[in-house]
Amino acid sequence: METPPPVLEEFRRKEDEHMGRKGRYYISTPIYYPSDRLHIGHVYTTTVADCLARWHRFIGDDVLFLTGSDEHGQKIERIAKSQGIGPKAYVDKIVDSFKVLWKRYNISYDDFVRTTEDRHRQVVQEVFRRIYEKGDIYKGEYEGWYCTPCEAFWVETKLEDGNCPDCGRPVELVKEESYFFRLSNYADRLLRHIEENPEFIQPESRRNEMISFIKSGLEDLCVSRTTFDWGIPVPMDDDHVIYVWIDALTNYLTGAGFLQDEEKFARYWPADLHLVGKEIIRFHTIIWPIILMALDLPLPKTVFGHGWLLMEHDKMSKSKGNVIDPIELADEFGVDAVRYFLLREVSFGQDGNFSRRALIDRINADLANDLGNLLHRSVAMIIRYRDGVIPEPGALTELEQDLQQLAAATAAGVNEHIEALEINAALSAIWRLIGRANKYIDEAEPWTLNKTEQTERLDTVLYHLGETLRILALLVKSFMPDTGEKIWAQLGISESIESCRFENTAWGGLEAGTKVVKGDPIFPRIDLDKLAEAEEASGVVEAKQETAEQAVEKKAEKPQVSIEDFAKLDLRVAEVKAAEPVPGADRLLKLTVTIGEEERQIVAGIAQHYTPDEMVGKRIVVVANLKPAKLRGVLSEGMLLAASTKDGLGLVTVERDLPSGAQVK
Ligand code: MSP
Repeated sequence: METPPPVLEEFRRKEDEHMGRKGRYYISTPIYYPSDRLHIGHVYTTTVADCLARWHRFIGDDVLFLTGSDEHGQKIERIAKSQGIGPKAYVDKIVDSFKVLWKRYNISYDDFVRTTEDRHRQVVQEVFRRIYEKGDIYKGEYEGWYCTPCEAFWVETKLEDGNCPDCGRPVELVKEESYFFRLSNYADRLLRHIEENPEFIQPESRRNEMISFIKSGLEDLCVSRTTFDWGIPVPMDDDHVIYVWIDALTNYLTGAGFLQDEEKFARYWPADLHLVGKEIIRFHTIIWPIILMALDLPLPKTVFGHGWLLMEHDKMSKSKGNVIDPIELADEFGVDAVRYFLLREVSFGQDGNFSRRALIDRINADLANDLGNLLHRSVAMIIRYRDGVIPEPGALTELEQDLQQLAAATAAGVNEHIEALEINAALSAIWRLIGRANKYIDEAEPWTLNKTEQTERLDTVLYHLGETLRILALLVKSFMPDTGEKIWAQLGISESIESCRFENTAWGGLEAGTKVVKGDPIFPRIDLDKLAEAEEASGVVEAKQETAEQAVEKKAEKPQVSIEDFAKLDLRVAEVKAAEPVPGADRLLKLTVTIGEEERQIVAGIAQHYTPDEMVGKRIVVVANLKPAKLRGVLSEGMLLAASTKDGLGLVTVERDLPSGAQVK
């Protein structure tokens, strides 16, 4: 094996001089346990990483995007045994399913590290040997607790009610001969690094947690096991296998070519971003940097601990039966719709919630209505008024100047948001441009321009729509690769979208004379009524209601909201004037209410708790600014508030006799 370059900086400097400065970006996902098939939570992490990798390629960076599978350890060995097959045969099958999943979700990884690969075994053994020879690893005896699902050692004092403080599951007592890693040798240096490099652990809350963890004292870490075989042998002692987290973390070196491809390693190391879930940030910001310090290697720039994707506000787990199969979801709604939802709905860093309803709302509102309609209307008008040919623009008015400025500001803004890892904010910025373009159509009224034969003005408007869509295709393609391509295809641009870079978002890239191509709507609207009927027929609704109720009972924690978030709700007192059942929907009542002077219709799922007669005359509290929606085909222009448990439901009312229209805050 070759020795790594001693001074990476020097190596890089030379290469930079040689090639001219070019940005590099090395991003990784955690490597997943093949203990089961992956669920939508895992897809979330990987989709975020994919979006970042794609954006960095788009801005011209030389990207290394790694993912992989963490295949050793006691947990995997036990599962394989329970299925009556050898561990390698077992992991091979599951890892194949990972790769199928990533292909389906358009995950553009550059390398997939399997920890059972030979190249990885060599690196892990060499890493262990070097740290041992340095004197930071010694042999001793471990007696303490072990959480097999987390593959984590715990001292008695850190347990919570005798269980694993990370996952809450029971731990096992372990007593065996082990090798230990003197983490404490590096505690001060690590603390200094964290304090001097605020970008190292993000977000800030996790950084603070890690600082207190280190300050509470680092125990020497047990780094080998002898009571099972499924792992990489300790190089100088065959009776031991290397602790699975040392093995797993080292994948970030293997994938970057450590010890095996000197040039590659010099090019990419250190990693720019290790993206990890919040429960494994400790391994990545304590054990991992200490391994690197012991090897005299530079530390990754950032470890970002993102929140979890919850299912109807509850943690996803197979035992709760609430995991969502990402392949089924993609079959039902399309890959890009799911990618969009994951990237848009969750405020990156915090926990986010998955629900089918929220997914469908996003599809109908943002994708079908905003983006899909913009494309559809624009292409249809270019075909209708100009035979499908993009015209040459004429003189600009303030409207066009405004649109051009917003397009340029949006491209720059998205880049800044991505740089700051504000993924959902990047999408919000793109959607502001989409909103502006839709408004531009309404303001410019191409149909009137056509009728009144204002030819040059109509040319200008149609060009601006086509050009805005071209820029939008470039901006969305990192988030939704297929959608970028589909918009591109409908615009009829011959140059491949793949070859375009950020510079191509500059205004004016669309050539007059390009012939657009009529296509199907890129995001068909989901008919909620039809979906509800299909779900009812298949029993999905019943199952979902159970989970929602369980969630209420368990006081599921929702993420904190700010007072500004709360202030977005317009809560009002309303008076019920009339009520009647909704035919064919035994849970629904249709209410006619007044909110001050205004009369509205609200459909509420309370028919099993209140009769129509009981409702008339009641003063209730409603969300007055909720987007109107149809329930079973009946329009609902607001939502009433009620409290419920599995045993009953009660309306929220005001305690004094306040008039309808009064604000609730
Ligand atoms: N094998 C280790 C990681 C080793 S990295 C050197 C591991 N594997 S895991 O399969 O259990 O989890 C991998 C990642 O998936 C973690 O970052 C975890 O946070 C993430 N997620 C698992 N469920 C998730 C959600 N419900 N939501 C978001 N991320 C989720 O830990």
